[in-house]
Amino acid sequence: MSSSIREVLFSEEEIRETVRRLADRISEDYRGKDVLMIGLLRGCFFFLADLIRELSRRGLDCESDFLQVLSYTERTESSGEIQLLKGETLDVSGRNVLLVEEIVDTGNTLAFAVEHIGSKKPRSLRTCVLLDKPARRRVPIEPDYRGAVIENHFVVGYGLDLNGKHRELPYIARVEVS
Ligand code: IMP
Ligand code: MG
Repeated sequence: MSSSIREVLFSEEEIRETVRRLADRISEDYRGKDVLMIGLLRGCFFFLADLIRELSRRGLDCESDFLQVLSYTERTESSGEIQLLKGETLDVSGRNVLLVEEIVDTGNTLAFAVEHIGSKKPRSLRTCVLLDKPARRRVPIEPDYRGAVIENHFVVGYGLDLNGKHRELPYIARVEVS
């Protein structure tokens, strides 16, 4: 499989503004509560790192933890089969949990994470994604917070990868996969 970067969809500055907008809404909704953010590895790590610092600046009391799932893919498409590789470390029962994912595509991963964490009796459970590709949804799941909606493009950068590559790009770009 070869790939090439086609166009920048979100610049560093646009990403920063999007994260700040999300932080404004989330900090408003969770005012006076503590939040346990659970990121979905590995793609979430830039987004969660920036979001948690924006929330902390707004006075929110946050903790973070991570889940890692293995999603079987056929090329760039999720097959729907998901396996838990790493569970959360903290006790989520009675906590206000915010699941953080960088992108929701078919919805399989987020639905799996919601089910997994939901079964552990959190006080509340919401989802936050940076990007949403609603045209590709196969599982009926709507994120509670989303930064931006994109068309059916494969994107890389800011944690998003194509076969492990391009995560480190500070911007988000569309790639052509051939
Ligand atoms: P879903 O289970 O199909 O919703 O896919 C979720 C996961 O697939 C995301 O957390 C990403 O890790 C990966 N993914 C989906 N779309 C893209 C993309 O455009 N670029 C990079 N990774 C993606
Ligand atoms: Mg992911």
